[in-house]
Amino acid sequence: EFQELLRTLEQRVNWDGLPLVKYCGCWLLVMLFRPIIAAQNHFKAKDTDIILTTMPKSGTTWLKALTFSIANRNVFPIDQSPLLTSNPHMLVPFLELNIYKEQDNPDLETIPSPRIFSTHMHFKMLPDSIRETDCRIIYICRNPLDQLVSHIHFSSQNNFGKDADPVAIDEAFDMFCQGINSFGPFWDHVLGYWNAHLENPGKVLFLKYEDLKEDITSQVKKIAEFMGFPFSLEEEEQGMIDQISGLCSFESLSNLTVNKRGDINGILKNSSFFRKGQVGDWTNYLTPAMAERIKKLMDSKFEGSGLMFNT
Ligand code: A3P
Repeated sequence: EFQELLRTLEQRVNWDGLPLVKYCGCWLLVMLFRPIIAAQNHFKAKDTDIILTTMPKSGTTWLKALTFSIANRNVFPIDQSPLLTSNPHMLVPFLELNIYKEQDNPDLETIPSPRIFSTHMHFKMLPDSIRETDCRIIYICRNPLDQLVSHIHFSSQNNFGKDADPVAIDEAFDMFCQGINSFGPFWDHVLGYWNAHLENPGKVLFLKYEDLKEDITSQVKKIAEFMGFPFSLEEEEQGMIDQISGLCSFESLSNLTVNKRGDINGILKNSSFFRKGQVGDWTNYLTPAMAERIKKLMDSKFEGSGLMFNT
């Protein structure tokens, strides 16, 4: 049934050589199509669930580490955090890459609350129960120039199911501008969650990577409040926010042995999730003319929405 559906859809090869399929106006990795359909059909959200949603390479790993630490701060002392021995992606699974990868309807009932899951799906593609229950969605995005550069590096580090060699950077950039990108178009992904957040700010928290880089303390407080796990005055006085921010920082996570070697499911290198962790690294790879093209695109796509990016 799923193979039949796949045959009816437009397919092409992404700039990194991975096959894509266009579904509901979104470009998805073909290898994730079946798990996405399975998640849409079978995932039953609970009111207590926290769903992390992102475009790839936008701060997913960071957000997983922070939300896991916030939710479990009374279970594990900081110096015994599972983050010290496990990659954040092992602690907070993706619906499409992990949970529904092998099975259509796995039993998720025994996972203790709050369950934290993540997905790269567009807002409109989320399983209905995520929208219909009181579970909360935390979205993080990143300026498109850094997101693309980060993705190009990530793809060059991991070789899974490629159909072709990657194209040159200017061609990759051109395809990105046309919306052809894993989980693209970028604009639609970001706007879907931006509008959902405007409509119901208690349901969708909208974060930007650049804001976390600028002031992690206020963002961690905001995330904890949104999750329903606000820091008490006593915890603040004990420096709990700084401890969590410090443990989850790029410097800390990228230097842990677990994140320097090994891989996830034999596919993705742990180290490939930690490269530079900076804002503005795109200037080392993209030309001012490319940046101008993206800025014009953002102006037209985001016109009237109030959404802006600091590049
Ligand atoms: P760069 O390639 O620009 O360094 P994702 O987690 O969504 O896959 O995104 C990966 C990007 O986030 C990479 O960006 C990575 O270095 C950066 N990153 C990973 N962990 C981080 C952290 N704790 N703090 C800040 N940036 C982090």
